[in-house]
Amino acid sequence: MTHERAVFATDDPAVRIYPLLTATVVPRPIAWISTRSAEGIGNLAPHSFYTVACANPPIVQFTSVGDKDTLRNVRETREFVVNLAAAPMLDPVNASSARFDPRVDEAEALGIRLEPSLMVSVPRVAEAPASIECRLHSVIELGDSTIVLGDVLAVTVLRTALAADGLPDMSALQPLSRLGRDEWGHPPAVFALDRPDVPGGS
Ligand SMILES: Cc1cc2nc3c(=O)[nH]c(=O)nc-3n(C[C@H](O)[C@H](O)[C@H](O)COP(=O)(O)O)c2cc1C
Repeated sequence: MTHERAVFATDDPAVRIYPLLTATVVPRPIAWISTRSAEGIGNLAPHSFYTVACANPPIVQFTSVGDKDTLRNVRETREFVVNLAAAPMLDPVNASSARFDPRVDEAEALGIRLEPSLMVSVPRVAEAPASIECRLHSVIELGDSTIVLGDVLAVTVLRTALAADGLPDMSALQPLSRLGRDEWGHPPAVFALDRPDVPGGS
């Protein structure tokens, strides 16, 4: 058994850093983001550079690699909804990542049912088991990418997707994940483990 490592230095022009990073930072949750342009044209697109950015105040973030309709819409209207990309929605989630004309509403084109959100004018995906309604907090420009931070105004979860403790239940959410290349992850096996109070404790 060898412990020799391949080294990918980012100053080596032969290194394909984007596919290397996306195949290394895995699995990533998928934010299926609904937005609206200033003219009112709807948009829906998956973004896997996505996570919680701050606990209090609650803020989530996603990254647009390049200028996309989602980013432009968020800049224009300052609102977006993160819809959880659940396993039964795999095909529509993937289909919505195609390069649609900005004047085309992906949800309309693909027959994805939307319904009104509570706190923002952007609708949510009706079949998504959970949605996070956001108002733009700020953007951070980084090279070819832009981080979008959104204040969480409300989280809505299907009652049938809540466990007895009132929190979303993984087995009901069935979240898809994004891996490297064109690979996707099925919902993972889940186990619970107590967090130790003291180092070495159990
Ligand atoms: C599962 C998945 C995850 C993606 N994650 C991102 C991402 O994090 N950032 C990004 O800019 N594009 C991402 N893409 C590509 C966008 O979805 C794609 O460029 C889409 O056309 C953007 O749509 P829009 O122009 O309507 O915003 C992802 C695609 C897929 C299939």
